[in-house]
Amino acid sequence: MRKVIAIDGPSGAGKSTIARMLAQKLGFEYLDTGALYRAVALYLVRLGLRENATDDEVAEAVKKVYVVFRQGRVIMNGADVSDEIRTPEASHFASVFSARRPVREHLLEIQRDAARHTDIVAEGRDMTTVVFPGACRKFYLDASVGERTRRRTLELAAKGFEVNEEEIRMEIAERDARDAGRDIAPLRKADDALFIESTGLPVEKVLMKIMEHLPEEKDGACGAAAGGGAACRS
Ligand code: DC
Repeated sequence: MRKVIAIDGPSGAGKSTIARMLAQKLGFEYLDTGALYRAVALYLVRLGLRENATDDEVAEAVKKVYVVFRQGRVIMNGADVSDEIRTPEASHFASVFSARRPVREHLLEIQRDAARHTDIVAEGRDMTTVVFPGACRKFYLDASVGERTRRRTLELAAKGFEVNEEEIRMEIAERDARDAGRDIAPLRKADDALFIESTGLPVEKVLMKIMEHLPEEKDGACGAAAGGGAACRS
């Protein structure tokens, strides 16, 4: 297991942007685990599964899907689905199916595999608590629902979707409740994660805060210049 910097937080908190920038700065790979959940959900939806699918049906179906996140793209059974997974429908079903045990079990090893040979910045909902509890640095990124709604609205509009800000606010609140309220690996701040409130902060400021909290080289952990033998494990 190589060095892992783990970032969790609700949707729209800015995790992807920050994790991508941080990875680039440190020369680490970036792992967007939400993209993996979205791709598995897309596969299940294409099979015709919906909210009422049983865990047995989901477990049987996920045996046949392999997803991987590589260089900013998500590949599902060999096909690049990076664009298809970003629709509002895909967001909804990613949240729905990510609450299912067979989906989470299926993705656990795939996520850990990503850190087997490469240093990574991983972001999601349970990076700091379940997937990489031994990460060398942990962050919990949050922002107000209003700010997250604004960001998501702009993002979807830029992609050409027709947007209704009130609907997006409701969808975010619904996803927050589902992601934080589920029984398995719910979204929560790990005790040893640094809480960063990003409302009103430009990304550069958030990135600076994170950089300030990366260990010094002498600690031998996640710093860009850190030597080998880092004390980072899952
Ligand atoms: O980060 P995102 O919005 O792309 O994630 C899509 C959904 O996947 C989100 O509603 C919750 C789920 N998810 C999860 O349960 N665990 C993760 N590590 C990442 C995402």
